Amino acid sequence: MATELVVSVTGRRLPAGRVVVGLFAGEKAAPAGLPAAVAKGVEVALRRAGWKGEEGQSAELELAAGRVLLVRGLGKRADLDAQRLRAWLGQAVDAVRSADEPAFVLAVPDHEIARGAAAAARIAREIAIAGYRFDSWLGKKHRSRLKRVDLLPPDGDAAAWRAGVPVGAAVAAGVALARDLGNTPPNVATPAWMAAQAARLARRHGAKIRILTPTEMKRRGMGGILAVGGGSEHPPRLVRIELGSGPRTVALVGKGVTFDTGGISIKPAGQMDEMKWDKSGACTVLGALEAMARLNLPVRVRAYLPLAENMPDGRAYRPGDIVRCANGRTVEILNTDAEGRMILADALAWAASEKPDHLLEYSTLTGACVVALGPTGAGLFTPDDELAGGLLSAAESNGERLWRLPLWREFLEEMRGAHADLRNSGGRWGGACTAAAFLSQFVEPVASWAHLDIAGPAYVGEGKIQRGATGYGIALTVDWLRSLGKSGRRPRR
Ligand code: BES
Ligand code: MN
Ligand code: ZN
Repeated sequence: MATELVVSVTGRRLPAGRVVVGLFAGEKAAPAGLPAAVAKGVEVALRRAGWKGEEGQSAELELAAGRVLLVRGLGKRADLDAQRLRAWLGQAVDAVRSADEPAFVLAVPDHEIARGAAAAARIAREIAIAGYRFDSWLGKKHRSRLKRVDLLPPDGDAAAWRAGVPVGAAVAAGVALARDLGNTPPNVATPAWMAAQAARLARRHGAKIRILTPTEMKRRGMGGILAVGGGSEHPPRLVRIELGSGPRTVALVGKGVTFDTGGISIKPAGQMDEMKWDKSGACTVLGALEAMARLNLPVRVRAYLPLAENMPDGRAYRPGDIVRCANGRTVEILNTDAEGRMILADALAWAASEKPDHLLEYSTLTGACVVALGPTGAGLFTPDDELAGGLLSAAESNGERLWRLPLWREFLEEMRGAHADLRNSGGRWGGACTAAAFLSQFVEPVASWAHLDIAGPAYVGEGKIQRGATGYGIALTVDWLRSLGKSGRRPRR
């Protein structure tokens, strides 16, 4: 797979590699607690003419034994916040990568936003994520050599860092897995290939897995996923994984459209390649499973991944078709490009029929959601205020942007069909909300459900270095699952 940075905490005896230290503007002494040789080097750098410690400023000097010290400005102490620190960490990783070494040591800035186990988890995750490269398809020359970073905790905070870093590292491993799967091209990542990756994950962690093929889907009346997958040479799959145990059961459902051409309602050519990331919801769910397995969270999770390729073909479903989904609802197809909700309908119905305490679903569902919230924000739809509060606060504390959007009755009315219970596409307005209203018809009897429309933040379409799957949603989900495990309350039924 691609290049993933391994992050761990180190003690005073320095491991190999360049040492990176952050310095605040206007501060004239080395941070406390650095190993003596490093502290001495920092003092030298501080006395250099022109050193101001401004954001973006950096200096390199040689310590004893050929070790290189890299000092980088952090700007004013009072201005540092989580977002600025994340950017600084990313620049530090890039600076070391260009030196082409396999490892480095990072002295974590001594600042209150970097203290405590939660901060340690967040920062460890951010560094690991900044170090990720999807370079397995590149020639050896172009692959990143950077493989590990050892962190020197802020002075006196080592215990919190030893507790927090493994949490961040587990989430980062989940994110790396999700990004690898998401970035894998659609000629490789077919529904069967994705199901095989899910099976590998299940085997790794001793989880139960079931993979439905079209024969079994027919038996279960899953007309939605069968319709969407019908036009492809690569038949659909529906994966169910059960992992972990605890007082609560959470179902996670993720849209896995391995490529979305739009089908007969075909998309325009521009940027159609980005539709390889239409499987991001499924990747987020697998990434969250990977992290929670590593953390041994005391919760039972059932994952449901509907996997299908949306292609135009003689066997493709068409506008005008009426299909019956697993819960008996009929849907009139108006637009074959509204395929996500069709495969989710069957997966949600299955998940809900097993009566989890909570049901969370992730999908790159609508362009309308990106229009509403921009490329960094995901839309949250849920009738459960307590669940909304938990997810929004988990998102907020992990630097993932999530914004609640409404499930008003008029959106559902918009989705009523003329000749079927529902239609799969509404009018021009409120496309993210009408899609959510459609999904609400497949979650019974679960009251505590949420739909996250991740079409914006699931991937970065523009640029070359940053381009790719982001693993959005894993950090907030794992955090929310952790808080669920801790609260120990019995769910309200
Ligand atoms: N996968 C797309 C949504 C999407 C668009 C994700 C842009 C990421 C970026 C989805 O299947 C789709 O095509 N949705 C349609 C729905 C419409 C036909 C009702 C859309 O958003 O236009
Ligand atoms: Mn589509
Ligand atoms: Zn789609």
